[in-house]
Amino acid sequence: MVQVLADATLQEIKDHLEVIVDSGRGTTFQGSESVVRQLSEPGDLCSLIGQIISDDDALAEIAALSYYHANNFLKLVLLAGDKNPWKLRLHMWHPQPDASGIIAEDIHSHRWDFTTALVVGEYFAQEYRIGPGEEYYHFKYLPIGQGKAFSLEAQGKEQLTSVFEAVLPAGTVYHINHEVLHCISRSAGKAAASLVLQQPAVEEFTNVYRTSPVGEQAKTEIEVQRPSVDQLRDELKHFLTWIDCSGPLRNTAPSPA
Ligand SMILES: [Fe+2]
Repeated sequence: MVQVLADATLQEIKDHLEVIVDSGRGTTFQGSESVVRQLSEPGDLCSLIGQIISDDDALAEIAALSYYHANNFLKLVLLAGDKNPWKLRLHMWHPQPDASGIIAEDIHSHRWDFTTALVVGEYFAQEYRIGPGEEYYHFKYLPIGQGKAFSLEAQGKEQLTSVFEAVLPAGTVYHINHEVLHCISRSAGKAAASLVLQQPAVEEFTNVYRTSPVGEQAKTEIEVQRPSVDQLRDELKHFLTWIDCSGPLRNTAPSPA
């Protein structure tokens, strides 16, 4: 795997991921772990991000598919499949110097299986299943697609039981099936980032469980903000300051941010 991806061009990485997804290996931890682990190594990641920063067409494509989530959480689609609708995403959580304590996501499922490498920082991961426990407001979460907003539709209340919790440090690689209910929490003042290989969607919506209702309406539209190309370039340069790009030289090593 190292030989396959070291110094690979964006197109070569994309072709390699297409083969893995097409073979069905991406739906298991065993089949996808090595490629996600390799791409998340600093040398490979610096090369991948460096190539994107110097490619205006790639930047424009990525900016159109990426968006800021709540709490300074940036979801970037670095590469997307042509034959199969997989995505290689980079998630960046910016430290929030004015905030303290822990920021927790809502509990949610996904529309696709995915394999994640935590590349910067650490976070607290929890998983749940439906069963006797704390009561939550249940919502149907419809995806953003090419548009500007996602929506939450109220579904009543549900009780959830916690079945797993762990602090995951940088270097952790794990796989989650789309049905798993999970949430992650992190320190507000610290940066974190993960690289995610997302498989083609197998569901049309996800389930979200909140400790409070969103509002009075049964359906709530929530707009997101997409980064401009300049913003995206700056975000990626900033990301490179979070990882160590001083290792074995790649022929496409980026200049310092
Ligand atoms: Fe998630």
